[in-house]
Amino acid sequence: MGNQQCCVVVLISGNGNNLQALIDASSHFGYTISHVISNNPGAFGLERAKRCGISSSVLNHRDFGTRGDFDSALQQAIENQGPDLVVLAGFMRILGPEIVKNFSGRMLNIHPSLLPKYPGINTHQRVLDSGDHEHGATVHFVTEALDGGPSIAQGRISINANETAQELSARVLVREQQLYPTVVSWFASGRLYLQRGQAVMDGAKLPREGLQINL
Ligand code: GRF
Repeated sequence: MGNQQCCVVVLISGNGNNLQALIDASSHFGYTISHVISNNPGAFGLERAKRCGISSSVLNHRDFGTRGDFDSALQQAIENQGPDLVVLAGFMRILGPEIVKNFSGRMLNIHPSLLPKYPGINTHQRVLDSGDHEHGATVHFVTEALDGGPSIAQGRISINANETAQELSARVLVREQQLYPTVVSWFASGRLYLQRGQAVMDGAKLPREGLQINL
């Protein structure tokens, strides 16, 4: 990275709410989003990138015979941009071990739950069904374990009585949009890195659930 701004490539599949938050924060958070890649040609996030003058490309997973073929094409497309960091933002493909290993320590994901609770999908409804009193989002380094990489930070909210999964999801999203740019700025400034499989911040190993952030 040197004295250049941290160059970030963002991977999306859908609306791009997290992408928008990352774009909006980039100028004063010390990183530059150089390119956006979507596996979904119809992702509204592509429109967001266009409106902000950020280049984008589509790598439609349906055009590839196997997951491995898609992953290697994706790896090449990312490497072509020469990023310091790859950020998954609503990217709904499970990445295989090769590409994950290739970007080990420079690939982040945000997951809408307080990991290690509720990996996978439909987290908001599952949290409500379980009767938990709190919920939130987790930013973590991506490893081969799905939603299982070392946690970096969590944004936590308490669940309101009788709220629906839709309402809960919207409130978690607000937390995500605050959390993700903050974590990316820590990586961009060199404060945050992955060392021997552990998330390290300012030289100290982070707790298993990551830093608890009440933004
Ligand atoms: C968000 O809930 C995020 O936690 C998850 O994907 C969902 C949609 O993201 N990773 P976006 O609106 O496409 O940014």
